[in-house]
Amino acid sequence: MSFTIHDTMLSEEAIQKRVKEMGKQIEADFQGEPVTLIAVLKGSFVFAADLMRAVGGNVQVDFISVSSYGNQTETTGKVRLLKDLDSNITGENVIVVEDIVDSGLTLHFLLDHLRMHKPKALKVCTLLDKPDRRRVELPIDYIGFQIPDEFIVGYGIDYAQQFRNLPYIASVRNEDD
Ligand code: PRP
Ligand code: MN
Ligand code: MG
Repeated sequence: MSFTIHDTMLSEEAIQKRVKEMGKQIEADFQGEPVTLIAVLKGSFVFAADLMRAVGGNVQVDFISVSSYGNQTETTGKVRLLKDLDSNITGENVIVVEDIVDSGLTLHFLLDHLRMHKPKALKVCTLLDKPDRRRVELPIDYIGFQIPDEFIVGYGIDYAQQFRNLPYIASVRNEDD
């Protein structure tokens, strides 16, 4: 199988504009209270870095690492915790930051895991939402863009660990199709 970049779905400019809006919305919602962003490695590290700089005020970051896709384009359905948080989130305002919510299985696993630590608030922020693919219903507080069911890469999102470095989001096409 060989995959090549096809169309740009979201330009660098469109992403940057929306991320700034999301940062301001989070800032307004928490009204100066401290917030901890939990970036879900690896995919969300690019978005989380930009989002953090768009949220003014008292904002911290921590990282958690899970993986369910391996190098596949379909979820294996099994979410593995590869790295837990470093900080104690009990009583803290927490926002889980994802690059994309697809089946929802990753986030479902993470929310169960984080709820055990009894944060004060537990919100979800995703740059991309693919509602057509959802296998488990989830509340999402901040959504950057809803996108159709196409396989996409860039801005942190990979295919077989490649293309995370693209500053835009593009669909990929299987050349064998
Ligand atoms: C991808 C993506 C989300 C998750 C979304 O991560 O970054 O974390 O899948 O899919 P879901 O809603 O179907 O669970 P992946 O497991 O590929 O790991 P990565 O972030 O390290 O690429
Ligand atoms: Mn991920
Ligand atoms: Mg991946």
